[in-house]
Amino acid sequence: LAGNPDAAAADADRLWDAGDGLPLIAVPTTAGTGAETNGFGVTEDRCARRKVYIGHSSVKPRIAVLDPELTLGLPARVTAATGLDALVHGIESLASRGSTPFSTAYATQAVTLVGRWLPAAYRDGGDLEARAGLMLGAHLAGHALTLSGLGLVHGIGHALTAHTGTPHGVALAAVLEEVMAFSAPAAATAYEATARALHLPPVPDWAGAAIEAVREISGAIEIKRPLRELGVTRDDLPAIAADAVADAVTKNAPRLPSEAEVTELLEAVY
Ligand SMILES: [Fe+2]
Repeated sequence: LAGNPDAAAADADRLWDAGDGLPLIAVPTTAGTGAETNGFGVTEDRCARRKVYIGHSSVKPRIAVLDPELTLGLPARVTAATGLDALVHGIESLASRGSTPFSTAYATQAVTLVGRWLPAAYRDGGDLEARAGLMLGAHLAGHALTLSGLGLVHGIGHALTAHTGTPHGVALAAVLEEVMAFSAPAAATAYEATARALHLPPVPDWAGAAIEAVREISGAIEIKRPLRELGVTRDDLPAIAADAVADAVTKNAPRLPSEAEVTELLEAVY
């Protein structure tokens, strides 16, 4: 806003050519979004009930201060929701159409760290080693997603939040394993990388093992809810599916879904 004082969310696409923002030093107080790694923000257009991506390379933070002590007081439910977001950033980055060797390197280590430390940080919010591992994992996941883009879990998550106000990580958790199962035919290599990053023993069905491990992590942090408990009605499902398919993040999904396929997926977790 300092460089673009008249900016509005609706102008997001045009801000790319406008003036520079102010130099930024970012100090995260959750371990989740990885927002300190890039020049993007996500805000909500309440009239259109959709998320708007707004950003500029000039507001990519010059410095990020990662101090896990700042997350020691974070309540368990917020630790779970933000940490699950970081896990999804790692997994969706690995499976993204935009993945590169660089994003894969970041994402692999992110999945390892978040997978290992998120349940521990949830169990004991005062565990500084767990808080530090989780924060570094979330930061690396931010670098990964900035390079690669995300996918359908975020597409659906954004739509669920816009329709119901559900926190981002809780919305992602509602559909994570189901989207992975839907995407598996087009994401075999990525889900093998996910399983290996989680240090799972080798099995013929790497994707199935990765999905099962994600289900365990999600269960350990008690975050998964059926959609009806998030304030969604059955009548909302087609509109949420339409918004999910139209969301820009969905274009990087390894298997591109139709609105009907997303509606079916949502019904399965209703
Ligand atoms: Fe996210």
